[in-house]
Amino acid sequence: MASALWSCLVLALLSGLAASGIPRSPFRLLAKRSLAEGVVDGIEIYSTKIISKVTSRFAHNVVTTRAVNRAEKAKEVSFDVELPKTAFITNFTLTIDGVTYPGNVKEKEVAKKQYEKAVSQGKTAGLVKASGRKLEKFTVSVNVAAGSKVTFELTYEELLKRHKGKYEMYLKIQPKQLIKHFEIEADIFEPQGISMLDAEASFITNDLLGSALTKSFSGKKGHVSFKPSLEQQRSCPTCTDSLLNGDFTITYDVNRESPANVQIVNGYFVHFFAPQGLPVVPKNVVFVIDVSGSMAGRKIEQTRDALLKILEDMKEDDYLNFILFSGDVTTWKENLVQATPENLQEAKAFVRNINDRGMTNINDALLRGINMLNKAWEEHKVPEKSTSIIIMLTDGDANTGESRPEKIQENVRNAIGGKFPLYNLGFGNNLNYNFLESMALENHGFARRIYEDSDANLQLQGFYEEVANPLLTEVEVEYPENAILDLTQNNYQHYYDGSEIVVAGRLLDEDMNRFKADVKGHGAINDLTFTEEVDLKEMEKALKEQDYIFGDYIERLWAYLTIEQLLEKGKKAHGEEKENLTAQALDLSLKYHFVTPLTSMVVTKPEDNEDQTAIADKPGEARSASPSTAYLTNYQPPQTPYYYVDGDPHFIIQVTEKDDAICFNIDEDPGTVLRLIQDPVTGLTVNGQIIGDKKVNPDSKTRKTYFGKLGIANAQMDLRIEVTTEKITLWNGDSQSTFSWLDTVTVTQDGVSVTINRKKNMIVSFGDGVTFVIVLHQVWKKHPVHRDFLGFYVVDSHQMSVQTHGLLGQFFHPFDFQVFDVHPSSDPTKPDATMVVKNHWLTVTRGSQKDYGKDASIGTKVFCWFVHNNGEGLIDGVHTDYIVPSLF
Ligand SMILES: *[C@@H]1O[C@H](CO)[C@@H](O)[C@H](O)[C@H]1NC(C)=O
Ligand SMILES: *[C@@H]1O[C@H](CO)[C@@H](O)[C@H](O)[C@H]1NC(C)=O
Repeated sequence: MASALWSCLVLALLSGLAASGIPRSPFRLLAKRSLAEGVVDGIEIYSTKIISKVTSRFAHNVVTTRAVNRAEKAKEVSFDVELPKTAFITNFTLTIDGVTYPGNVKEKEVAKKQYEKAVSQGKTAGLVKASGRKLEKFTVSVNVAAGSKVTFELTYEELLKRHKGKYEMYLKIQPKQLIKHFEIEADIFEPQGISMLDAEASFITNDLLGSALTKSFSGKKGHVSFKPSLEQQRSCPTCTDSLLNGDFTITYDVNRESPANVQIVNGYFVHFFAPQGLPVVPKNVVFVIDVSGSMAGRKIEQTRDALLKILEDMKEDDYLNFILFSGDVTTWKENLVQATPENLQEAKAFVRNINDRGMTNINDALLRGINMLNKAWEEHKVPEKSTSIIIMLTDGDANTGESRPEKIQENVRNAIGGKFPLYNLGFGNNLNYNFLESMALENHGFARRIYEDSDANLQLQGFYEEVANPLLTEVEVEYPENAILDLTQNNYQHYYDGSEIVVAGRLLDEDMNRFKADVKGHGAINDLTFTEEVDLKEMEKALKEQDYIFGDYIERLWAYLTIEQLLEKGKKAHGEEKENLTAQALDLSLKYHFVTPLTSMVVTKPEDNEDQTAIADKPGEARSASPSTAYLTNYQPPQTPYYYVDGDPHFIIQVTEKDDAICFNIDEDPGTVLRLIQDPVTGLTVNGQIIGDKKVNPDSKTRKTYFGKLGIANAQMDLRIEVTTEKITLWNGDSQSTFSWLDTVTVTQDGVSVTINRKKNMIVSFGDGVTFVIVLHQVWKKHPVHRDFLGFYVVDSHQMSVQTHGLLGQFFHPFDFQVFDVHPSSDPTKPDATMVVKNHWLTVTRGSQKDYGKDASIGTKVFCWFVHNNGEGLIDGVHTDYIVPSLF
């Protein structure tokens, strides 16, 4: 029996978690010399399966390989999988002739002793080694008796991070022999809905793969399957070697209609945040570039090349400067300069002339850069709403000036003072990467290794693209106090376009009904607060309907993130604090069975009395989460009377003194824009555009018209807000931000505040004294006649001037009316009367309208005196006087 050949196999998984990077997950099987088809050196690998299940970005991968020893003597079989450095192995089992040897996660020290003992006894031991840029190689070999079968099963998990607008999962495939059953099956479940999904193999065009590759997605589910037949695996029709050799990549993204998504399962929550459509915050970038002697040759050429490309992508609002360092420090300009076309031209000429020289003085170079940014800020030389970034590239260790890493870190930390992030790029291997990483992490940035290769320039550009578009700065995610425990990182200096902020935690009270989160940040023009509210009962209901995924994924996702962050914090901590962080990370790694840098997987022979025929089961019970539901933060309009227009445009003017209201309709052709409010003193204007029903009704007496678009402008502030039934667009000068009616967000800026309550209403306030509410009326999408429309409510107008005019605005100042001679009309419920208003005698009819200002779904009835003929006699002039050519 093969199992007799060893009693303890220890897999010391050496490096678990490395700097963040594109996740890659590869797979490879080693076998030697080809003898017969499908059998190499006596070993037939007859099946290889990679099963991936991705739920809410959390990927759970199981790689299973089965082999049989067809030789007449014992043979060694190797199992070799390349997985992303960012992944944690969570399980490994070996099954030889039906006997399963399960893996256990142990503290590294404990495991190491067993490992050393196993090695000293000549036993087989597995190992994980760094392999390539993003990968780690897991290797294990076992001796298999003649005629015996062996099954290897490796499980690993990781949180897919969003880079440049998508999630990417790499599987490296390199079987080196033809395999009867070769299969990749990936199931993706995303509660927000999948917006794109693709799968590609680097080793062959998708056309040639034909029926072997299928990919599909619909709603919340995506599926990729790759099952090449033996024939399709051949590198040529008569060949016995495999064509499969390279990367198999799955990429996807989720719907972004809503900026955030919250999922809660079994008391654990995860909150994803990735708003779209915001303008880019201008940035002030200082590039601190190593030009020491070791950079000579290709490295400096590639750096020049990358910087030239980066300069092409700079936006005119950005400010920049270059600092070159070797033994001494030189700068391109004394201070930061704006990225005008002329300056960029000059910068390119400067970059082309960068040459290597001398030693490496990291300390002085960084301090110069930091001081330059601090000074530009203090002296208001850069725009107020800009953000700063410092990017350092080096290929070696500090060897002149202050060269003690701890001292440099201290100096840099004190100089930056948490104000902006530092990114460190380590070029090549000849450097102290831990130092660069720890320094970047403690200054809210991160480090990247740039591999010395022909694409180093592309790696540099790729890094820059990730940080080139900050959309929000000083992002803070807040939950109600005393409701949340064990929160992962919830503040970020920047949110970059194409990325995603992920926060996870535990609910203190599992029985709570509502979950609320606010994300606050500074945008290019506004301060924003995104509010997300979830109804837990509804989510639970959706969970029950969903029977697709493995059970405790949110808890595991939380554990993964927490461990990752504890390890990161540990890298920048010292002494007792470091020990404490390490201890916490170790506890969690053991509890959740994660192979991290602190733990190892140990595979031991089961005791004779244990069940020896354990067979791998599909992971846990299925469970899932629903998309979060956001609720209206109820807006309570003040008890004072107000003015509004809603429905088939019905204008309602409440008259405080009378405790009564007047109403009128305006009937105009679809497309017409009407002036609702115009105040020459405050500069405020509100216009509305009329839409009709889906079916054109030429009879103006019976046709229905509504407001489909509203334009609110404040000329003094150079601010415009366009509201349609689809989206809300804010312009501030030339900068534009777009929100959807699916957002719950508050935008504030210079006294203006805009709050969107998902699918319900929107509140716009100009300081203290002007507040409008816009109500979204949604009808059934497939309704044959009606379509979505808007209502407009003026709930506070006391700061608007007496010169205010417009269909609603003219009533903002006190006015009086008299009603008498109430008499029955043709409709007994709607008596007629005579009204005297603005010196006109009018026949009016008692009627009622709905007021949706308090609740967008259930209107309250408001009684009013209806003025006929487009408000003739009530409004100043005639209604066509209020037609304007455009929304703004
Ligand atoms: C870490 O420190 C905190 C207090 O600072 C303490 O409550 C906790 O028990 C410590 N954790 C470990 C694992 O030592
Ligand atoms: C590891 O995998 C084996 C085989 O699939 C399974 O029986 C066992 O429960 C797994 N262990 C853990 C901790 O998931």
